[in-house]
Amino acid sequence: MSGPHRLPGDPTAKALVERMIRVDHAGEYGAARIYAGQLAVLGRSASAPLIRRMAEQEERHLAAFDKLVAERHVRPTALSPLWHVAGYALGAATALLGERAAMACTAAVEEVIDAHYQSQIDALGEAEPALKAKLEEFRANEIEHRDTALAHGAEAAPAQPLLAAAIKAGSRLAIWLSTRI
Ligand SMILES: [Fe+2]
Ligand SMILES: [Fe+2]
Repeated sequence: MSGPHRLPGDPTAKALVERMIRVDHAGEYGAARIYAGQLAVLGRSASAPLIRRMAEQEERHLAAFDKLVAERHVRPTALSPLWHVAGYALGAATALLGERAAMACTAAVEEVIDAHYQSQIDALGEAEPALKAKLEEFRANEIEHRDTALAHGAEAAPAQPLLAAAIKAGSRLAIWLSTRI
């Protein structure tokens, strides 16, 4: 991140950490909105307690990044109005296709987030141990969400390969955008 590998024009270590916090804050916000959209549709279904438990963890993740954004004076993404609507719409639309489609959405999103957090953990190396510990903890939660979704029919959803591919592509685009904008 710094030292001999840094080239002129590369972002500084501080800027890189700020970017991480910005994109993670955006991601956790989007995740909370996805689960809110799912619950709006499936709030009385058999999956509701499961979804609610995952939603509560996302709220905890979001609160942690809210705090980091404030403490470190990180400019939040300018795209939060978009994630507000897009996250909720994704959650509600997949939930309208059924509980298994909602689980397929969760599995797809969490798979991308798992890899995203892992790449940040690797990039931090020895730097920022407290932040790194948080990322590791949250990543473990996201993996648990993915496994919960897989255990509850994610792969049996209608048009699952297509749905999963589209959602993963959208999630990666959202990460790319929120890192920069
Ligand atoms: Fe999360
Ligand atoms: Fe999650």
